[in-house]
Amino acid sequence: MITKTTIDQVYDTARVEEVIGDFVSLKKAGSNFKGLSPFSQERTPSFMVSPVKQIWKDFSTGKGGNVVAFLMEHERFSYPEAIRYLAKKYNIEIEETQQTDEEKAKRDARESMLLVSEFALDYFKNNLWESSAGKAIGKTYFQERGFTDETIKAFDLGYALETKDAFTNTALEKGYKLEFLEKTGLTIEERKIDRFRGRVLFPIKSMAGRTVGFGGRILGDNKKTAKYLNSPESEIYHKSKVLYGLYESKQTIAKEDCCYLVEGYTDVIQMHQRGIKNVVSSSGTALTQEQIRLIQRLTQNIVVLFDGDAAGLRAALRGIDMILSQGMNVKVCSFPEGEDPDSFAKNHSLEEVQTFFSENAKDFIQFKASLLMKEAQNDPVKKAATIKDMVDSIAKIPDAIQREVYVQSCAAIMEISEEVLFSALAQKRAKEVNAQNKRKPNVPQMQVVQPVAPALKVDELYELEKQIITLLMLYGDREETFQESVLQFSEASEEVVEEITMVKAKVYEKIFLDLQQDEVELANDDFRSLFFVLLEQFQTQGLLSIDKLMPTLAPELSSLVSTILMNEEKYSLHQWDKKNIFVKTRDQQIGLMVTETILSLRKHLVNRKIESLQAEMEDPTQEHKGLLEDVMSYYQLRRLVSNKLNRVL
Ligand code: CTP
Ligand code: MN
Repeated sequence: MITKTTIDQVYDTARVEEVIGDFVSLKKAGSNFKGLSPFSQERTPSFMVSPVKQIWKDFSTGKGGNVVAFLMEHERFSYPEAIRYLAKKYNIEIEETQQTDEEKAKRDARESMLLVSEFALDYFKNNLWESSAGKAIGKTYFQERGFTDETIKAFDLGYALETKDAFTNTALEKGYKLEFLEKTGLTIEERKIDRFRGRVLFPIKSMAGRTVGFGGRILGDNKKTAKYLNSPESEIYHKSKVLYGLYESKQTIAKEDCCYLVEGYTDVIQMHQRGIKNVVSSSGTALTQEQIRLIQRLTQNIVVLFDGDAAGLRAALRGIDMILSQGMNVKVCSFPEGEDPDSFAKNHSLEEVQTFFSENAKDFIQFKASLLMKEAQNDPVKKAATIKDMVDSIAKIPDAIQREVYVQSCAAIMEISEEVLFSALAQKRAKEVNAQNKRKPNVPQMQVVQPVAPALKVDELYELEKQIITLLMLYGDREETFQESVLQFSEASEEVVEEITMVKAKVYEKIFLDLQQDEVELANDDFRSLFFVLLEQFQTQGLLSIDKLMPTLAPELSSLVSTILMNEEKYSLHQWDKKNIFVKTRDQQIGLMVTETILSLRKHLVNRKIESLQAEMEDPTQEHKGLLEDVMSYYQLRRLVSNKLNRVL
């Protein structure tokens, strides 16, 4: 673990505008910088960086946060990777917290293995470009496959000489330890000879771009030896956790919000050369959960590209259920007989390839339904099996709404009623959820089919809570006059009555006290955490210093803060001519806005309470005594709150 001191030092030193400036061309705009969003294809700049607040906001995608959040979003770094990147950029030495000797040794060993692999990368590249055998054999091979010099360089392709220990000897001479040469599999242990001999090499990189292994292809089509020889599993190379091409494709995947999945190294490279740069390969094996999760950090949309033969297609259909169960949207696209992505991209223009994809990529569920139906034509037994097969796939989809949509389209394709499909699905889901719950205790039972409507409604509670946080952040330390009213139950009139006074208070105090009085905690986890962080700042410092606060926040919270703050900036920038008027009117209304928001929240909560009481009353197993009275007094409360709200508005 990196120490807190190092992290603090990194935050103190790093300048958001400098770091982002390495990736986006920024122009000064008032006290901010503006540029074209690196996350979308926009033509008018809506990406803003605030040097004062040390935050950024992309209005085209809604993303935003501090300097670390930018690196995590743009470079797809993990948190420690982002810190390390910044430390390197600003020459800050990284301190690690108490590592045990064992941990330290492990870390050092991993690092040594990575260094050996990076040396090998350079060595094999050098062979290809400089040695006579490399040029004559390796480079010629790639050229015959249609790769340009630029492509060969972009993918760091290399060549391993025929000599049995050329690499191992050079590495040992350079001072690399035999231990790590063996651990990476670059040297074969017993005999101290090179693993890769007389092969062209495809370096395999981690998402962060470090070389973790190699795939080596024989030249030509010798049937006796395996076509590809790969690095063995090791501390740094876990086949199931790596995707070939991910490092080269990650930015485009995020930008296009779509990822193509192909089978081999050459498919990835040829597609890149053709101009389609959001392509990864699982290197000939079935996709794993971990690999899907890597893609999911970038997009929810995946298009699986099949070779044009039926056998591969059947096998791949099975693998896809797993992608569905991760909640991704899956499309499939198969090529004409005898073609694969490599040959297709090589023999067609970019426009042709793109047209082909857009015309042939089919939604997976629909694709599977049509395919199976074709096979089951006029065979009722087969058709029943097909329905079961489809239900199995649809049941894997976590999202209820999506399941429902698929049931509808599937029913149409298979010419059966939706009810039949729904009930089969409900049974299957119940089993699946049960099985999941057995594995993970304490998970509440999921509803089999959720109603569609509520999910589509605007989440009022969320909006109100966000408004409270916004008011706190923008105006928390201001003193305002509030209409204070207390609701009391009058013994005399047997009614809830309202007493009104005018009080002066700081906005943060007013909000805090009102919520406390109602015993209301914000429901949203992020808002609630932020609420307490902000309160603490106001209470200890009397004001909010955003630049101090930002580094201490978790990435989700820092993104939230910058969204709220930069939204204000946006108003003041884009409407700067109206700025004075706008800010003024808004300022005058702060007290009212605070009151309105809190009242609206109250009204919302009272409504919910009434709803739940009503539901209880409809429940025949419940004791109803007293419930009616409760409902009546909540009705009164709602009337009072509504009246007050009307007065404010
Ligand atoms: N593969 C492997 N070992 C093999 C065969 C295949 O590791 N013996 C992996 C490689 O990652 C390969 C992928 O499976 O890229 C797909 O196999 P294939 O389609 O045979 O390879 P291509 O990439 O098409 O290679 P080429 O076009 O050079 O024949
Ligand atoms: Mn091929």
